[in-house]
Amino acid sequence: MAGTAQVKLTTSQPHSPTLLEAIVGLSKPVILAFYIFLYGLPISIVQQLATLSPSKLLSPWAWRDAIWGNGSPAILKEGDKMMYDAKKEFVSLAYGTVLEVGAGSGETIKYYDEDKIEKLFALEPFLPLVKVLKKTITARGPSFQRKTTVIPLGIQEKSLLRSEYGIAKESVDSLILVQCLCSMPQPKKHLKYCVELLKPGGTLVLIEHVTSPHPTTRLLQDLITPLWSFAANGCELNRDTLASMESLNCWEDVVVKRPTVQTTADLIPHIFVKATKKR
Ligand SMILES: C[S@@+](CC[C@H](N)C(=O)[O-])C[C@H]1O[C@@H](n2cnc3c(N)ncnc32)[C@H](O)[C@@H]1O
Repeated sequence: MAGTAQVKLTTSQPHSPTLLEAIVGLSKPVILAFYIFLYGLPISIVQQLATLSPSKLLSPWAWRDAIWGNGSPAILKEGDKMMYDAKKEFVSLAYGTVLEVGAGSGETIKYYDEDKIEKLFALEPFLPLVKVLKKTITARGPSFQRKTTVIPLGIQEKSLLRSEYGIAKESVDSLILVQCLCSMPQPKKHLKYCVELLKPGGTLVLIEHVTSPHPTTRLLQDLITPLWSFAANGCELNRDTLASMESLNCWEDVVVKRPTVQTTADLIPHIFVKATKKR
């Protein structure tokens, strides 16, 4: 993306940090939380006051939902800008019938190669983000819009997904999981189910923030996850998503990359994975 410094990827493990890198890596959750409040709080105050509902005004969950709903699209957009090249390399692999789980405000939408896609199912259960997602899809133009179905459901709604949308076992060619396994409850169970939906020979693209390989950083992730999880709508910092994926034991041609800037002090380290489901 023109004008924005791009994250480069490597197949190497994260390196040991310099002092400055350690400060940056360890401060990431605080910086992100600050920006979510900055972008989300003013409009949330207006919306909350407009409800005139004491139960909403006094509910920490109502405030959290409002602040996250209003603040997270801007944060996801900023994070996305720096990862443009890296995400494009992975997401543009999607072909045929595509299932994107936890599409959020639609930051992944721009990376799809429209010519390779027959159908895109974009699942997003959080209604404030569904509105933004629909706008993002509309902005890609009418032919992309015709191929796309926004589904305002979570992946756990198996029977509705099957009966209403035909999303059944071995029905999708490409499964796209971008920063969603970090925030859904029971991620292992849902990942297993998502993978069952993928046809043999189909492509998995997984871009997630995961547990740190360094024990001290991992301990810090464990300690701050309860607070972070409340503020960030269920997102957890200490999920070993790569291990969960590998434990399904159904992959070939697995490629795992990480940002070259990533260090062992990074509290929100990312992995970029592409893999083929064994035939
Ligand atoms: C951090 S956001 C990422 C959004 C988007 N993938 C991106 O990278 O910009 C995580 C998303 O996963 C969604 N999510 C959480 N639980 C889910 C579930 N059970 N099924 C589907 N999506 C879910 C959330 O609503 C949220 O939009």
